[in-house]
Amino acid sequence: MATSQTSLPSRESGVYDLMNTAMTAGMHYRWRERAADMADVEPGGSALDVCCGTGDLALELARRVGAEGTVIGCDFSERMLDAARAKAERNGVSGVHFEWADALELPYADASFDAATIGFGARNLADLDRGLAELRRVVRPGGRLVILEITQPTRPPLSAFYSLWFDRIVPLLGTVAGDRSAYTYLPESVKRFPSPRGLAERMAGTGFPRVRYLVLAGGIITIHTGVAGT
Ligand SMILES: C[S@@+](CC[C@H](N)C(=O)[O-])C[C@H]1O[C@@H](n2cnc3c(N)ncnc32)[C@H](O)[C@@H]1O
Repeated sequence: MATSQTSLPSRESGVYDLMNTAMTAGMHYRWRERAADMADVEPGGSALDVCCGTGDLALELARRVGAEGTVIGCDFSERMLDAARAKAERNGVSGVHFEWADALELPYADASFDAATIGFGARNLADLDRGLAELRRVVRPGGRLVILEITQPTRPPLSAFYSLWFDRIVPLLGTVAGDRSAYTYLPESVKRFPSPRGLAERMAGTGFPRVRYLVLAGGIITIHTGVAGT
């Protein structure tokens, strides 16, 4: 869930998965399952997972569309893509392709997917509105966009615990993992990211008129879904 565009090339994808598990007590897998469910893809359908990282969300989507369907996971880090391909092979998941693409300039035709997802990646986009516009372009009218992201809980006691965890403990874990800068960037990027309501408005403004969001883990995680307008 960490990463900055500057620190990413030096990151080890294995460390990335381990850190996610350490930071969330393993709950990140369950959150991605929820996000994949909310993409509402059917067997034989098509989905794009942008900023796919080491591939977990794309693999969840691939399990849902089945062998007749198509899932593309894209990222601009070859290191992450290699890890995602290896994970798909290890898990015997077929029908998923991992390929290089910049989320801000997607190399896919208009309306080519039933759904698109972005898990813990929207925060990292250099231009959120441009990323949302690209996602809107490649999702067919009536298709879904799902955004899974870390958010800031606003109510005590979780807000106080969250601040201690993300501002102090996570950078320490990052130091142990050998990449303090990425895990200092993480809380900073969460603070800069729009609130759940703010993100819903940004999605509505880029062509997803029907937006809902589900707040999980006391406000630490939010999953937005938007239906692409015609
Ligand atoms: C925090 S990771 C999330 C990975 C994965 N989706 C997950 O659920 O764990 C963010 C990913 O976004 C990728 N990324 C950031 N900006 C991007 C862009 N403009 N285009 C493509 N990938 C991008 C990074 O390379 C990184 O793999």
